[in-house]
Amino acid sequence: MRQFLAVIAFMLVTIGFFSAYSNFGIPQIIPAPPPVEEEIDLTSMDMDQFTALGDKIFNGKGTCTLCHNELGRAPMLDQVGVNAQARLDDARYDGEASDIEGYLRESLVAPSAYVVEGFGKAGTNDTESPMPSTEGGSIALSEPELAAVLAYLQDIGGLEVTVEIPTDMAPQEGEPEEMADPGEPRPAFTNFQDLSDEFACEACHTIGEEAGDLGPNLSTIGGTRDRDYIRRALLDPNRDIAKGYEADMMPDDLGEQLYATELEIMVDFLSQLK
Ligand code: HEC
Ligand code: HEC
Repeated sequence: MRQFLAVIAFMLVTIGFFSAYSNFGIPQIIPAPPPVEEEIDLTSMDMDQFTALGDKIFNGKGTCTLCHNELGRAPMLDQVGVNAQARLDDARYDGEASDIEGYLRESLVAPSAYVVEGFGKAGTNDTESPMPSTEGGSIALSEPELAAVLAYLQDIGGLEVTVEIPTDMAPQEGEPEEMADPGEPRPAFTNFQDLSDEFACEACHTIGEEAGDLGPNLSTIGGTRDRDYIRRALLDPNRDIAKGYEADMMPDDLGEQLYATELEIMVDFLSQLK
C-alpha cells in the first residue's frame, strides 16, 4: 500500500512538474488571430468609411484602374468634379442627368451619354464610349458598391459628397457578397469565363458575345496565333504589340496574379478559338 501511494505521489509530482514546465517553461506560441472578415455593415458606416469602401472598389473589384491610370487609356478622374458641370453644359452631352452626382452616375452606368473628347471608340467620332457599363458585364457592381464609388469620386474630385449611404443593405438574392479576404490565397479559377470576369479581359477585348474594343478582337485568335505567342502575350504584353494597337494598354502584371494552372486554362481556351 505504501508503495502504491508512493507511486501515485511520484506520478502527481511528475505531472505537476510537466504541466508547470509547459505553462511557464516553454514559450507560448500565440496563434495568429483569425483573419478579420470583411464586414460591410452600412448601417454603422460613416461617410469616411463609405468613401474608403469606394476607394477599395475603385482600385479592386471595379477594375477602374485598368484604364483610369497614368498611361492615358482613359481620362484621370481627379479633375472629374471640376469638369462635370462643363460636360453637362456641352452641346455633345446626350444624357438625362441634371446635377453632378447624376452625371457621375450616368458616366458609370451609361458611359456613352457623354464621351470625353479623344477617348471614344475608334471610328465613332467620340459618340460611343469604350468604357463598359458598371452595371453588368465584366464589372457588375451592386447598387451599394456603385454608390460607394460615386462617393469616392466626389471625394477625390474635391466635391461635396452628396451621395447617401444606402440603408437597405440586405445582400441581393443570388448575389453573394464576394469580398475576398486579403490574408488568404484566393481559390484558383477553373474555367476561362470566370477568369475573364475576374481579370476583366472583356472590358477591352471581344471574346465571343461580349464586346470590348480597346484591344484586338480575340474571337478567332487561335487561327492566327499559336500557344507560345498567346502565353507570351499574357505574360509579357509589350514584347509583341498587335498591329494597330498601342503598347502599355494590356495589364502587364497578369504573370504575378495568375496561378500557373489558370494561365494554361487561358492559353488552352484562346488557342482553340478559330
Ligand atoms: C476598359 C476601360 C475602362 C474601365 C475598366 C473603366 N473606365 Fe471609366 N472611362 C473609360 C474611358 C475610355 C472614358 C472616356 C470616355 C467616356 O467619356 O466615356 C471613361 C470615362 C469615365 C468617366 C467620365 C469622366 C469625365 O471626365 O467625364 C468616369 C466618371 C469614369 N469613367 C469612371 C469609371 C469608374 C468608376 C470605373 C470603375 C468602376 C471605370 N470608369 C472603369 C474607360 C474605362
Ligand atoms: C485595359 C485593356 C485590356 C485588358 C483589361 C486586357 N487586354 Fe489584352 N490587349 C489589350 C491591348 C490594347 C492589346 C494590343 C496591344 C498588345 O499587343 O499589347 C492586347 C493584346 C492581347 C493579346 C494579343 C493579341 C494579338 O493578336 O497580338 C491577347 C492574347 C490578350 N490581349 C489577351 C487578354 C486577356 C486573356 C485578358 C484578360 C486576362 C486581357 N487581354 C486583358 C488590352 C487589354
